[in-house]
Amino acid sequence: MTAPVGTAPNFNRLAAPYRWMEYLSFGPALERCRFHFLSRLDHCRYGLVLGDGDGRFTARLLATHPDLRVHAIDGSPAMLTALRRRVAAVAAAHRLTTQLADLRLPDLHLGNTTSPSDPSLPFTPDCIATHFFLDCLTTPEVARLAHSLSALAAPGCLWIVSEFAIPARGWMRPLAAALVAALYRAFGWLTGLQPQQLPDHPSALAASGWQCIQRHRHLGGLLVSELWLLR
Ligand SMILES: C[S@@+](CC[C@H](N)C(=O)[O-])C[C@H]1O[C@@H](n2cnc3c(N)ncnc32)[C@H](O)[C@@H]1O
Repeated sequence: MTAPVGTAPNFNRLAAPYRWMEYLSFGPALERCRFHFLSRLDHCRYGLVLGDGDGRFTARLLATHPDLRVHAIDGSPAMLTALRRRVAAVAAAHRLTTQLADLRLPDLHLGNTTSPSDPSLPFTPDCIATHFFLDCLTTPEVARLAHSLSALAAPGCLWIVSEFAIPARGWMRPLAAALVAALYRAFGWLTGLQPQQLPDHPSALAASGWQCIQRHRHLGGLLVSELWLLR
């Protein structure tokens, strides 16, 4: 598989305004998308949250699942600080570990994280979440990540994905294409993000043994919430 191209994007200066930028542009739509499959994680004990930004999903996940522990990885120190602050505000800091890492790199390592129940065992997630993060990667980078995650997790692990999408047909298609292109231009300028088009994450996940078991479209197909299962 190909190595990551160029430097990782830098989301540090967006950590503070990110939430308001989102509400001003999409209202509550992205929030609905993130939380759509939250209740499907009720049986989970170990969550891995990748690229969660300012931590709104992680905080809600921990607040609504008191038996869950989460390991959160992001490439932005400022985003991780915001995430830890949000998690502390819901009194769940003792169930969170965080790691600063470039998730484009091969061989995902979860730092020194071990199983909370048995420190001699590695942390094995039974649920994974990526919300509006895979679109920061190219298709080969998503493929590499999906491959690492299937090696790390056990069959039965769930992965919830929220993403932008361009519907194959219908009135939303041209609008979605224009919006997604504008978002890539804006994030390229603000963070140095290099990809300029949505990755083909469904093929990349499927190639590593993940199966999409449920999909929900929001805003005419501009946004999707997906639930994937490791076979
Ligand atoms: C567009 S924001 C999405 C934030 C949040 N998940 C949400 O739902 O809005 C992308 C997040 O992924 C992180 N990120 C982007 N590329 C990354 C990389 N290569 N490695 C690690 N984190 C990365 C950014 O720091 C940022 O927090």
